[in-house]
Amino acid sequence: MALENKLGINDSAELARAEERISKTKAVRLYESKIAEDFEVGKFSGLAKIHKFLFDEIYDFAGRIRTVNIAKGNFRFAPVMYLDAALKHIGDMPQSTFNEIIEKYVEMNAAHPFREGNGRSMRIWLDFILKKELKLVIDWNKVDKEDYLLAMERSPVKDVEIKVLLKNALTDQIDNREIFMKGIDASYYYEGYNTFKAEEL
Ligand SMILES: Nc1ncnc2c1ncn2[C@@H]1O[C@H](COP(=O)(O)OP(=O)(O)O)[C@@H](O)[C@H]1O
Ligand SMILES: [Mg+2]
Repeated sequence: MALENKLGINDSAELARAEERISKTKAVRLYESKIAEDFEVGKFSGLAKIHKFLFDEIYDFAGRIRTVNIAKGNFRFAPVMYLDAALKHIGDMPQSTFNEIIEKYVEMNAAHPFREGNGRSMRIWLDFILKKELKLVIDWNKVDKEDYLLAMERSPVKDVEIKVLLKNALTDQIDNREIFMKGIDASYYYEGYNTFKAEEL
């Protein structure tokens, strides 16, 4: 039932709780240590390091590109066979304006490079780009979760909703731990709405 994991947990609700607790502890450490300063900002390699840092104790695939095709709702994320090329392309996308950064974020979400934990690692990745390029971050407390998910579901077709939503939540409080932590809340994903489909290749 549950995704294969290093904790030996079979029940998906129990895994979700353990995953949330551990990844949040790791996020605090990521924030407090200066380790992330060496991560490549806006590249897949930087995102992979964030993902590995958060999920290494839980999944063998932490920091590694997925080997199965996945979908959420009606949207199929990038097929495995195109992922490498897509991630290189996304890493080279510009990131000097707010709109460019969100367009890059939307593309990275469409790629969804990991088997699980894309949302949490990508929101941190996004904040690192905004912080470096604009000296701003998203105050995730100001982002309604349902609106966020609707905007992300819509984003492969039209990115105006996610741009407006995140622009209204920008803050110059770039060194506030509480604001940083809010982005890794797992509940940016509907409870009981796990329509994840995976097919082994
Ligand atoms: N239908 C959808 N289309 C595009 N993106 C989606 C869709 N549903 C959810 N998302 C995005 O995917 C994220 C969840 O991906 P997931 O790999 O489960 O990450 P996590 O486990 O960290 O929540 C959400 O936070 C949202 O950004
Ligand atoms: Mg998930």
